[in-house]
Amino acid sequence: MAVREAGIALRSAVLAICLVGAAGCGSGSSPEVGVGPDGTPDPVLVAGRAVFIDRCSSCHDADGSGTSDGPRLNRGRLLEGYPDPGDAVAVISEGRDRMPAFGGLLTAVEVDAVLRYINDVL
Ligand code: HEC
Repeated sequence: MAVREAGIALRSAVLAICLVGAAGCGSGSSPEVGVGPDGTPDPVLVAGRAVFIDRCSSCHDADGSGTSDGPRLNRGRLLEGYPDPGDAVAVISEGRDRMPAFGGLLTAVEVDAVLRYINDVL
């Protein structure tokens, strides 16, 4: 029983470190979502970060600064180019040139979440 409890405690500790730590846990180096006024990170931004790491960072880089495979999106770049979020949603859903279409791969909620992560955190 004690061993089992220790195991659970250890797993919780590892999970906590993964949530808080910047490196490790296979998450690349996409910036963490900071905690809000209630002391916890916004779950939409956390979900958006997961989508970004999974689907976007390979071409747009972990911090959104761009690579030879995709342009920079971070530091307000996306909002400058796409003041109307609907236009950014369209590029992501339908793709353009070498930018793949994600409409069939991501839900509308996931697309909104990744856009918010790019605009608010990167
Ligand atoms: C295979 C590489 C690749 C992946 C993966 C990728 N993109 Fe792109 N993305 C591109 C390229 C290339 C462009 C430039 C398209 C063009 O020139 O019209 C682009 C353009 C964009 C643009 C428009 C930027 C601008 O300045 O006009 C947005 C927004 C964008 N991507 C978001 C995303 C998001 C969000 C994801 C993940 C869900 C993603 N991309 C995944 C390659 C990629």
